[in-house]
Amino acid sequence: MAFRVASGDMRVYRDQCPHRLAPLSLGTCENNVLQCAYHGWRFDESGRCIEIPALGSAATIPPKAVLNSPARVAESHGMVFVALDEPLMPLPLIEAANNPSYMKGDLPVFTARASAGLLADNFLDMAHFPFVHVGTFGEGEAKEVPNYKVQRDGFTFEASYEHQFANREDPGVDAGIRPLVQTRRLTYRYHAPFHLELEIEFLDAGGTNVIGFFLTPEDDEHVRIYSSLWRNDLEGSLERMADAIDFEVRVVNEDLRLQSRYEDLALPLESTAELHTRADKITLELRRVLHDFVAAANA
Ligand code: FES
Ligand SMILES: [Fe+2]
Repeated sequence: MAFRVASGDMRVYRDQCPHRLAPLSLGTCENNVLQCAYHGWRFDESGRCIEIPALGSAATIPPKAVLNSPARVAESHGMVFVALDEPLMPLPLIEAANNPSYMKGDLPVFTARASAGLLADNFLDMAHFPFVHVGTFGEGEAKEVPNYKVQRDGFTFEASYEHQFANREDPGVDAGIRPLVQTRRLTYRYHAPFHLELEIEFLDAGGTNVIGFFLTPEDDEHVRIYSSLWRNDLEGSLERMADAIDFEVRVVNEDLRLQSRYEDLALPLESTAELHTRADKITLELRRVLHDFVAAANA
């Protein structure tokens, strides 16, 4: 349960009143005071109970009448991140988010029968474009994945490669200034457990697109997908940003069509459970990092 206090800060508490464990999210919040909808206990912004109406004005407040708060709460990229226990990782920074030459657009939030592990795997996967994304950008994409390196740093990694593609959106192609087949650099950044970024630099036509992908598991079978775009090539046009978001939604739906059909939604973390090729180096690294991350979380 989350609410914003007058200073603008977020407060996040377990959705359970300490009295009879009623859902606090049904309560009200006025002047930084949160009131439970059941028996009207009132809590200040630090989560301490300050009034129990049933006991009148002479009430002695039990010391345990305090709301249960998570280890950390932080806001970033227009989202609120909550760590129930002390986090193993700082929040990831998407550089484009702090660069005023970029416009930001948010995709609608998706909820799907899918798993965060498999969707992270899918986001990092470079070999599925010409098969899964024939309806959007995959048409005519090279099937062969060029050689690339993955650089791990703790529970993060980065991989970058350049490839040729047909830039059908570039007006410079029609104008005869640039060839249709151009080069772009794709840089993937992964940050455990489920924060992902893809930076696409158009090396011939100029411009950079960044896609942020933030996955929140809801339970073993459902995930929520928060995704944002940062682009520095739209000349401030909200209409072009809306088109870019629509396109990205179609791309995510192409992925989900397949991802939601996995019978077993668990991402195998043992490297012998699946077959890996040199094209899968990046998604193999995902399994290794998540394996170590889970071990560290359980330590
Ligand atoms: S359950 Fe919240 S006041 Fe009783
Ligand atoms: Fe995809």
